Amino acid sequence: MKTHILGIESSCDETAAAVVADGREILSNVVASQVGTHRKYGGVVPELASREHLRQIVPVVREALAQAHVTLNEMDAFAVTRGPGLVGSLLVGLTYAKTLAFALGKPLIPVNHLEGHVRAVFLEARQAGQEPALPAVCLIVSGGHTVLYWLERRAQAAAVAASGELSYRRLGQTRDDAAGEAYDKVSKLLALGYPGGPIIDQLAKQSGAGNGVSFGSTKIRGNPFDFSFSGIKTAVLYFVREHAELAPEIRAREEALARGERQAEQLKPLCSKTTLALIRAFQDAVVRDLVGRTFAAAEDTGAASILVSGGVAANSELRGQFERHARESGLEVFFPSRALSTDNAAMIAAAAYPKFLAGVRADDSLDAEASLPLA
Ligand code: KG4
Ligand code: ZN
Repeated sequence: MKTHILGIESSCDETAAAVVADGREILSNVVASQVGTHRKYGGVVPELASREHLRQIVPVVREALAQAHVTLNEMDAFAVTRGPGLVGSLLVGLTYAKTLAFALGKPLIPVNHLEGHVRAVFLEARQAGQEPALPAVCLIVSGGHTVLYWLERRAQAAAVAASGELSYRRLGQTRDDAAGEAYDKVSKLLALGYPGGPIIDQLAKQSGAGNGVSFGSTKIRGNPFDFSFSGIKTAVLYFVREHAELAPEIRAREEALARGERQAEQLKPLCSKTTLALIRAFQDAVVRDLVGRTFAAAEDTGAASILVSGGVAANSELRGQFERHARESGLEVFFPSRALSTDNAAMIAAAAYPKFLAGVRADDSLDAEASLPLA
């Protein structure tokens, strides 16, 4: 008999539910995105996010069960994101999962959202019959996080070790903005719409390297595996201020966005060569930093492989650079597919499976934790 876990995720702006069998077989993976709600603000508005989760949670769970052709009664456990995230958003998923577990008398397993992102990489690799070698370095890079972890198999009691539970050590993290946040802020500044990552990814391809605009690497004192992205964002802002000739095209793009013209094909004709060069330079600087520090951390710790997860892991330049460095260094790099890179509940159900085997159970006192650390 397979173990079926229903995962629920509501830490930020996606309401998600998924059914995963034995921690590796995705029977359903339903995500209701709130991007339309937050678009006009250029970022996630916490109050609106909680309200949307409340509207979506019941239909999303129902849809996940329907797509998997299972009933609530057939679930062996419920898994839910406990943190980190927006507390009002977390509480919606947590309260619902608690209620289901209590009403049906089934185990409730709390999951750290960041561990979910790590597990998304294993989930994807296992679907392809691969297994990332441990110990590994994992870069989690999204709109809310930019953090590097070192992970290995948990060597405790035999039962825990057999479950496949991992242990984590944080190597570094952003000191200011997350990388995805920098993409979103730069996109807002240049009137390219929200979210910024996908559009910047596409427009950056329209300009070659050595186009006359470039940004240096961010210098960080202390921990060499920490990140900082507020400097590059400010550099883009200064560039725009110094180039007054860009103002009319920014206005034209604002008008296009107001008409609902958000596609790269629609915005590209409204971007001058200078703007495209600026976009390319911004992306190059961010990617150089992410790839450089991750490989440095992998070398420093003697990691056997590198994992990359989170919304920004979908970036084509980032993937290309990671793969190029991987070929040169002999280290294997693993990414989830786009559906498993961004926030989803399959990764939460998958992360819960080894905990289920190891006997981890939450009781009634389980609460959301906005800054829950992963350790
Ligand atoms: O993981 P995610 O869906 O949500 C969290 O923030 O947890 O990530 C969303 C972030 C946004 O900041 C978005 O701009 C960025 O991921 N993103 C990208 C790309 N696709 C999404 N950034 C760069 N390139 C992309 N292709
Ligand atoms: Zn996330």
